[in-house]
Amino acid sequence: MDKLLIEGGVPLAGEIAISGAKNAALPLLCAALLTREPVTFTNVPKLNDVGTMLKLLAQMGVKVAREADSVTLEASGLDNPVAPYELVKTMRASILVLGPLVARCGEAKVSLPGGCAIGARPVDQHIKGLTEMGAAVAVEHGYVHARTTRLKGARLFTDMVTVTGTENLMMAACLADGETVIENAAREPEVVDLANCLVAMGARVSGAGSDVIRIQGVASLHGTTHRIMPDRIETGTYLCAAAVTGGNIRLTGTSASYLDAVIDKLMDAGCEVIQERSAISLKAPPRLTAVSLRTSPYPAFPTDMQAQFMALNAVADGTAVIRETIFENRYMHAVELIRLGADIRIDGNTAVVRGVAKLDGATVMATDLRASASLVIAGLVAQGETLIERIYHLDRGYENLGQKLGALGARVRRVK
Ligand code: EPZ
Repeated sequence: MDKLLIEGGVPLAGEIAISGAKNAALPLLCAALLTREPVTFTNVPKLNDVGTMLKLLAQMGVKVAREADSVTLEASGLDNPVAPYELVKTMRASILVLGPLVARCGEAKVSLPGGCAIGARPVDQHIKGLTEMGAAVAVEHGYVHARTTRLKGARLFTDMVTVTGTENLMMAACLADGETVIENAAREPEVVDLANCLVAMGARVSGAGSDVIRIQGVASLHGTTHRIMPDRIETGTYLCAAAVTGGNIRLTGTSASYLDAVIDKLMDAGCEVIQERSAISLKAPPRLTAVSLRTSPYPAFPTDMQAQFMALNAVADGTAVIRETIFENRYMHAVELIRLGADIRIDGNTAVVRGVAKLDGATVMATDLRASASLVIAGLVAQGETLIERIYHLDRGYENLGQKLGALGARVRRVK
């Protein structure tokens, strides 16, 4: 298994381009199941999760053509509405094929995703919504079996804000008979990106980005070409890396408009952030100030940036209190940061981080995608060498991370 060797202490400087958003690409690729016509996506990030999703769609009978950063999918030959455990267990976002398959084929057999490092990750809201739309759904032998003649529009209310739950139900509703209203809908920008693509395919969706989304079902959808939005979490991750190393960087092909809560915290920590139309720059202060935070659904502070800010607070001046309200076990990175010399105490969903003068390089282990990013950030500022094991987690969600950090002056290399 590959490892990442980082020599800390180099202030990041320079400019890199941000890739397409993983959490927009994954639902968007599934939207292609809703039509027989070809759908082309551009700005598709080269990520393992995207590769897994394309493999999953191909084994269903979807034609996949990939060149450079664009992917064309054609689901006219869709003849196997099954998502097998072998693929789903490696990527829980596979559940996003459930809604489109039921809507398009009237049936679906999708393996339950199972938990992952950060929590149980149930899909009960996805199932509840489809059932309310008239699907007969049974969960047996680890699979969700759903069947219907045609879904019927319904008024849906999710018990909690769920991003992929909202996306699954929105896609299913596009081909249902009548109007569907999703209340308590997720407001994430990736939900809006998906809605924009569905509308371009002929769907009738309004309200995406608010907590009430209305969908008027139509008989069928047609193809389109859609450019995937930039990755706001990748953007936030590099901003944190520049902040902790006393750096000065510019990120292009991205936008600050989806990162208000994160930028607020970076400015509270003492960073200077300059926002342009499709670029964002950050100049770090000589010493960061600790910033407390609480994760919540968009537009509040994103849970996917919590681990990165724990690394930032580890070397900031003062004490930060972090509250993780979305996932029940998203502090796996804390013990690894402590190995690097961080002073962190976890109490339930609260982490108290006392800034220390310096971190010391060590061998640490990645446990999940954003925890790995947190260790990279810490390694960039730690004195000496940090060796991060199990970096396949990183490859799931960060395109060319080593090259991009190298372009910013970091001393990073992959070792076997
Ligand atoms: C999406 O996951 C993202 N993944 C996650 O990013 C992100 O952390 C999360 O939203 C929260 O923003 C993708 O978009 C592919 P949820 P998702 O359903 O949709 C509970 C990353 O690092 N819940 O919004 O799976 C759930 O357990 C990943 O890129 C139920 O109880 O998250 C959690 O506590 C990690 N039942 C909360 O709701 C359900 O049916 C929010 O989960 C669904 C969710």
